[in-house]
Amino acid sequence: MNAQLAERVQRSFSRSFRSYHDSASQQSQIANHLVHEMRTGGAPQHFAFGLEFGCGTGHLTQRLCETFEFRSLMINDLSPEAEQTAYAVGADFLCGDAETLNWPGQPNLIASASMIQWLRDPAAFLRKAATALTPGGWLAVSGFGPEQYRELVKVGSTAKAPGLCRSEDLAAAVRDELEIISTGDTIREMHFASPRKVLEHLRRTGVNGRAQKGWTKTSLNQFTDQYVRYFGSETGVSLTYQPTWIVARKRD
Ligand SMILES: C[S@@+](CC[C@H](N)C(=O)[O-])C[C@H]1O[C@@H](n2cnc3c(N)ncnc32)[C@H](O)[C@@H]1O
Repeated sequence: MNAQLAERVQRSFSRSFRSYHDSASQQSQIANHLVHEMRTGGAPQHFAFGLEFGCGTGHLTQRLCETFEFRSLMINDLSPEAEQTAYAVGADFLCGDAETLNWPGQPNLIASASMIQWLRDPAAFLRKAATALTPGGWLAVSGFGPEQYRELVKVGSTAKAPGLCRSEDLAAAVRDELEIISTGDTIREMHFASPRKVLEHLRRTGVNGRAQKGWTKTSLNQFTDQYVRYFGSETGVSLTYQPTWIVARKRD
């Protein structure tokens, strides 16, 4: 991640830290889904050392701690506020950019939900994770695909994350070292009363809808008109999520 993007992403998530947890219903479902796929895929009950990247307010951290036992768990985030998440579950906290940090120890679980889309090179992150895992270790990672926020892309927003990738890309990155247990993606449409409500949702979940630009009355009206013209219906306007995920196991 380049330093400028890391700083912008960190500021945006730090600002939204309080509102994120309750507003991020999609991310909460994704965390549930990852843990479900681990369980049905035969993940063990006990992990010696778990390492989670981009923990945020802890949707995935909580599910992992409810479902599995860890002799030691270390969770990471770019935003220092996420130390509260570590405190809440008794994990160690590692603050910084997952892409450039030195990763500690020999994890037998590497997990991350809704973070890799912010990385410059998610495939390199996954390859590094595959290498870092001990034999028999598990990988459980989700990101977002190219259809993520397609409405915003169409109306010219700069909110698009740099590392959107398809589930095939996730699998291709680790296939040489890991056995793929489960991978896929889904399209989920959320509905909002108006484009302004979409912007509020993005702000509360830490994704600034117009990343570098401030709004003027004219640009906001233009955004609203276009959004309604392309994506309006009697129920309001849509916003598309495309979660993608991979659960895989390192060969013994
Ligand atoms: C959408 S939130 C997801 C949080 C949590 N995993 C969840 O499922 O709700 C993305 C999180 O990733 C963090 N993040 C973004 N880029 C990161 C990076 N390069 N290294 C570590 N954390 C990062 C953000 O600060 C934010 O807390």
